[in-house]
Amino acid sequence: LDKKVRQNNWEEGNFINYKKMSENLAIVRSRLNRPLTYAEKILYSHLDDPHGQEIERGVSYLRLRPDRVACQDATAQMAILQFMSAGMPSVANPTTVHCDHLIEAQVGGVKDLERAVSINKEVYDFLSSACAKYNIGFWKPGSGIIHQILLENYAFPGGLLIGTDSHTPNAGGLGMCAIGVGGADAVDVMANLPWELKAPKIIGVRLTGKLSGWTAPKDVILKVAGILTVKGGTGAIVEYHGPGAETISSTGMGTICNMGAEIGATTSLFPFNDRMYEYLAATKRKEIGDFARSYAKELREDEGAEYDQLIEINLSELEPHINGPFTPDLATPISKFAEAAKANGWPEEIKVGLIGSCTNSSYEDMTRAAAIARDAINHGIKAKSTFVVTPGSEQIRATIARDGQLQTFEEFGGVVLANACGPCIGQWDRKDVKKGEANTIISSYNRNFTGRNDGNPATHAFVTSPDLVVAMSIAGTLHFNPLTDKLKDKDGNEFLLAPPSGEALPSRGYDPGQDTYQAPPQDRASVNVQVSPTSDRLQILSPFNPWDGKDALGLPILIKAQGKTTTDHISMAGPWLKYRGHLDNISNNMLIGAINAANGEANSVKNQTTGQFDAVPAVARDYKAKGIKWVVVGDWNYGEGSSREHAALEPRHLGGLAIITRSFARIHETNLKKQGMLPLTFSDPADYDKIQPDDRVDIMCTELAVGKPITMRVHPKDGKPYEVKLLHTFNEAQLEWFKNGSALNTMAKQAKN
Ligand code: F3S
Repeated sequence: LDKKVRQNNWEEGNFINYKKMSENLAIVRSRLNRPLTYAEKILYSHLDDPHGQEIERGVSYLRLRPDRVACQDATAQMAILQFMSAGMPSVANPTTVHCDHLIEAQVGGVKDLERAVSINKEVYDFLSSACAKYNIGFWKPGSGIIHQILLENYAFPGGLLIGTDSHTPNAGGLGMCAIGVGGADAVDVMANLPWELKAPKIIGVRLTGKLSGWTAPKDVILKVAGILTVKGGTGAIVEYHGPGAETISSTGMGTICNMGAEIGATTSLFPFNDRMYEYLAATKRKEIGDFARSYAKELREDEGAEYDQLIEINLSELEPHINGPFTPDLATPISKFAEAAKANGWPEEIKVGLIGSCTNSSYEDMTRAAAIARDAINHGIKAKSTFVVTPGSEQIRATIARDGQLQTFEEFGGVVLANACGPCIGQWDRKDVKKGEANTIISSYNRNFTGRNDGNPATHAFVTSPDLVVAMSIAGTLHFNPLTDKLKDKDGNEFLLAPPSGEALPSRGYDPGQDTYQAPPQDRASVNVQVSPTSDRLQILSPFNPWDGKDALGLPILIKAQGKTTTDHISMAGPWLKYRGHLDNISNNMLIGAINAANGEANSVKNQTTGQFDAVPAVARDYKAKGIKWVVVGDWNYGEGSSREHAALEPRHLGGLAIITRSFARIHETNLKKQGMLPLTFSDPADYDKIQPDDRVDIMCTELAVGKPITMRVHPKDGKPYEVKLLHTFNEAQLEWFKNGSALNTMAKQAKN
């Protein structure tokens, strides 16, 4: 294991550290003394402190040292802006950025890409210059979708990767433990802080038998989603194993892991096997495959490993499935699908069939899909539905262009879009139906929530394998079953489509296509990060002020929020996504969705200095201009939802000091701490009811110490002051974050010393 094997073909100095991993694992094994699952082995071999770390699945918080970080362009902006404020010369761990989310599908690949490059120029210029400056690999727009690029270039068996996108688990198809996180987590790893994850539970999925006919790898996850539902994987890693796993291509395993995000799983993964070796060899990483073989014993589960839950699937009996509409866990086998469509009144006509996306755009997917399309063409017919292809990467596009599948799709009536997310993330200028008009689309994507693809809440979106998308698009109706129903050829003769056949890997090798990678330059010191001071989409962050060392007296309550206050209420998405790289502009959405307990309204609070009601961000800005700090009072589980760090950055930016609640969602609580805010909870939750929106409060910051409550003195508008106790979960290191103004200020300080 002493060999120096590079993590990938792009970076010189980053090696796969199986030696260290096996040493860490030996330490943990001697402590736990029980067989381990594969996911456990990866996690525990990446512990910051294998000797001292408490390890209990579902209970302990693991402090981990991931091998890599990957960011897509929408989330990378704030992550890099924050990283910059730590004042470090380069990222501490290998990192890449991928431009895939900001390209809107309108007319077709080339034109759409050109337009995106001009509309998003300042964002791309910023990302490309910042990547050059801080030693980050930059994948330009047109290179492809983050998860496909990771599988083709960066994933390796046994590695631990975090990515700022929920479908990062796709890399589980190469035996990597790849976890989707928020930008703040990525910043930690970029800045060399250990990354925290609650020790996941492990759900085992044992596969037996062999896929055949119309059944595709996608059907495994469509079935699992039906069993576990959208919540069933929460807090757990889904670990596939058993002899059936060997029968699925590496990219097929990627598909299965990718869509595990739809059941809320922390990640999904497969053990290292020969199919992965073949894929590594085909993508010019045979050396990694050989190295993995030498460590193979630890790249799978131990015999007798115990799972918190076990699901068994016989691939030989698995039927093709179609899931949806509106939710990915409504799984219907194809034999029952027409019946279900009729019974539920789902619009019969399929308007659009879409294949590709990060979930399903491998060479195998494309060759199988093209074989079905060719079968139809040979019978003189084409797609009845509009048919759309998004290649997952430039390499896939170039390879299928060379090998003829792309031409088949075009002959079939298809439109080939840019190598990007496009309609999968709603970047789709759809013209064929009006907003609000009920209609059906079917895709090989992973997510089909209401409005996700086209912003039309009446669109019934179904997800399935690319094979079924093509077959259903030929028939143009949801009532079709390609396994049993005949089609009519151009002369009116009936025929049955042949079951698809494809190639897992291109026999002539991959064609890399255009070079879309930008490596960091040798001389990085002279690179200037490009941010226009007049930009409304990007803004350089200035470090937050450190704590002044005093108690904070007479603070107004900006809002006493009532009921559910999720990260969407705190920092809305939708049109605000545009400002994800501009803290001051996006702060105009701060808490505008939260309900004010004083009047039951959203975005209407009293400015305590003027007595006037105004929007929440406007009042916060007025306090800030007057040098007045403020607090928020919140209810149970404040900040649940996404891990977006903007929900913590915004109150800090607009001058908030503390968020005082009945309880917090944990990730949001940590995010607040990282930004130098005080997340505090009522020691007696009933105190929430006592506090009135017009009260003023004193926060005794000087009392802050690990494990001790602090005092808040409440000054009711009319009535006598009284004290309540507030709890917090700061540890020693986190208290430094508060004192220094933020976790990044702390990093910057440490870097200087
Ligand atoms: Fe997400 Fe893009 Fe895939 S939007 S689901 S990464 S295609």
